[in-house]
Amino acid sequence: MGQKIQAVKGMNDLLPAEQKDFKLSSAFWQAFEDTVVRWTRRFGYSQIRTPIVEQTGLFVRSIGEETDVVGKEMYTFADSNDTLSLSLRPEGTASCLRAVVEHNLLYNSPQKLWYMGPMFRRERPQKGRYRQFHQVGVEALGFDGPDVDAEMIAMCADLWRELGIAGELTLEINSLGNREERAAHRAALVAYLQTHENTLDDDSRRRMHTNPLRVLDSKNPALQDICNAAPHLSDYLGADSLAHYTGFKRLLDAQGIAYTENPRLVRGLDYYNLTVFEWTTDKLGAQATVCGGGRYNGLIGELGGKDAPAIGFAMGIERLLLLVREYGRLKTEAAPDIYLMQQEEGQAAAMRCATLLRAAGFNVLQHSGAQSLKNQMKKADASGARFAVIVGASEAEQGAATLKDMQGWNGQQTVAAAALPELINQWKNA
Ligand code: HAM
Repeated sequence: MGQKIQAVKGMNDLLPAEQKDFKLSSAFWQAFEDTVVRWTRRFGYSQIRTPIVEQTGLFVRSIGEETDVVGKEMYTFADSNDTLSLSLRPEGTASCLRAVVEHNLLYNSPQKLWYMGPMFRRERPQKGRYRQFHQVGVEALGFDGPDVDAEMIAMCADLWRELGIAGELTLEINSLGNREERAAHRAALVAYLQTHENTLDDDSRRRMHTNPLRVLDSKNPALQDICNAAPHLSDYLGADSLAHYTGFKRLLDAQGIAYTENPRLVRGLDYYNLTVFEWTTDKLGAQATVCGGGRYNGLIGELGGKDAPAIGFAMGIERLLLLVREYGRLKTEAAPDIYLMQQEEGQAAAMRCATLLRAAGFNVLQHSGAQSLKNQMKKADASGARFAVIVGASEAEQGAATLKDMQGWNGQQTVAAAALPELINQWKNA
């Protein structure tokens, strides 16, 4: 026997049933995917699907070289017969914009897009943090008013409501202003941090020059006082940025959406400006951010397109579903409608019967093999099917089938196979 090969660390299999160390099943996941398809349709967003592998330069240019994601966490490799550097996508925004620019999608009209799929970051795995994880992302391209910022939040709130987790999530918002405002704030921030250089930890001292805003994001308790007293970006916002931010907040208020203003919310990717936001929970331990996003006006231009304003967000599916599983609701439809039992002499008739039932719109799990009917009935029970259909030797001879209500309401009845769909529908609605 060969040696077993295991999945790569931080990358999970999604199995029909939950695993000991990964509490999500494929049925639960699929129910969520169905919900997402309905949800995005409700808001008029169209799906975009892009490759999982892109040129490394795309992520360097959009997410930023100094970010953890690009600097430390990307899976990057050289294409074998080429000098081209490729990377597994660590997020979806860059790929989405690359495709939009490449196909000139903004030529005629703005775009409202969504995507769903695996992303890759070489982080230290723990509950809620994986090396292959999955996101649902939404991007609205070509709209500059705060109304679309508020639509992003309304969309999230709508999904949280449907999943029954509205009460578990808190919305934090901030405005990062425009490039000039951030530069003025950055200069003041670096000057301030320099006066505290001796107290900073190594990470913060390094970031002070590369990405000083991220110092404010430090989780080190010893630095909280310094971070709290640091110059606030909000004091550097000009009239236009302030008006945008105020307009956004007014629209949230008008919808009755509660939020906390967090002047230290900066996000981990470099492309943001103006509105940024995160939905967090206190129910998942350290991995508290379930969904995050914001504006990235200017990025489309930097990626070679005709510049257009843009905003979007993405949620981590694993984190979200762990929360839904524990505190929310999501109806899974894993059980078949019918478990079809058969005896060896009746196999051909049983197959015809399964075809007939499927054509009538039922989900049919047909027993495979020739076990005793008693044994098959146990399997039918375990499958969770509402009905069992039995095609034994005597039924097969008469072109008949026996229908059994597994919930017991209607008992058991033998009818002509062709009459099964009607009888099942009668019993279902009885
Ligand atoms: P992000 O904040 O890097 O933003 O990721 C969004 C969400 O993905 C996080 O809030 C988290 O739930 C999930 N996530 C990130 N890393 C991991 C991980 N290692 N394991 C499990 N879940 C994870 C973005 O990716 C932006 N592209 C969002 C965006 C779209 N901004 C504008 N448009």
